[in-house]
Amino acid sequence: MIVVTGATGNVGRHVVDELVAAGAEVRALTRDPESARLPEGVEVARTADLPLDGADAVFLNPAVVWGTGAGELLRKAGQAGVRRIVTLSSSAAAEPGPGNVIGNHHHELETEIEASGLVWTHVRPGAFASNALQWAEQLGKGDVVHGPYAQAHTAPIHEADIAAVAARALLSEDYAGQAPVLTGPQSLTFAEQVTIIGEVLGRPLRYEEIPPEAAREAMTGGGVPADIADTLLRLFAGAVGRPAEISPETERITGRPGRTFAQWASDHSAAFS
Ligand SMILES: NC(=O)c1ccc[n+]([C@@H]2O[C@H](COP(=O)([O-])OP(=O)(O)OC[C@H]3O[C@@H](n4cnc5c(N)ncnc54)[C@H](OP(=O)(O)O)[C@@H]3O)[C@@H](O)[C@H]2O)c1
Repeated sequence: MIVVTGATGNVGRHVVDELVAAGAEVRALTRDPESARLPEGVEVARTADLPLDGADAVFLNPAVVWGTGAGELLRKAGQAGVRRIVTLSSSAAAEPGPGNVIGNHHHELETEIEASGLVWTHVRPGAFASNALQWAEQLGKGDVVHGPYAQAHTAPIHEADIAAVAARALLSEDYAGQAPVLTGPQSLTFAEQVTIIGEVLGRPLRYEEIPPEAAREAMTGGGVPADIADTLLRLFAGAVGRPAEISPETERITGRPGRTFAQWASDHSAAFS
């Protein structure tokens, strides 16, 4: 039995699908089992109950332990005899330090897990392609995305590729003690990502840069905590004109090249219509 936390999330749904396809028994955790729409044959349970009995492995989305730490989950995992834990961490965990709220949070979580005695793998993706979903509202109203740092590069990764790596680490101990950094196959600026979405949709989309202060206001107004908004804006500023490094790890672990951003946009075209 493999327990998947955050099972309705961008990555979690694909983790569930990968495990089901591999013939594993899956228990999917959600705060709202009634509306979770998880596949037939998957046991669905409430996140708050943390039901880990009978589980060999756990996929941990940090969202479910944000603010509390993983202490209770790790204690229950120990009691239940869980062997492996796969953390959805972040490439930012490699560089914790002042002002890097995202890196510090994931680094603390990784450290807590490593001290638990469980066999661990930390999956460390960089920017998710699904971050582009934040533009869907603007693109529902017109052909322009307003955002900061048009020329900031990331190598956006398809959530299905993150899940494919996580599933392999959940199903075997081949990746025990590893923390693979995962990226997509191309470095793209925000402006290029919007152009690609436009090509997929057959619309002439463009990215119009706004000052970082305006972007900060929009982010915090939309519910992003101020320290996270500041960390993100600082990362974007540092990525202007600097192509992102492409990691070979997705292909090493899954045996196939990572999906392109155009593939991601095509898979999510309905969200932008
Ligand atoms: N975005 C990036 O660029 C990036 C980069 C590196 C790492 N990451 C990591 O990846 C995570 C996001 O993964 P994702 O996109 O798959 O997640 P997601 O889709 O945002 O959320 C996953 C699921 O977690 C549950 N959830 C959300 N908030 C919760 C809370 N406060 N308590 C309990 N459950 C909660 C929700 O499920 P229910 O509503 O069904 O309970 C949600 O569907 C980030 O938090 C970060 O740790 C992200």
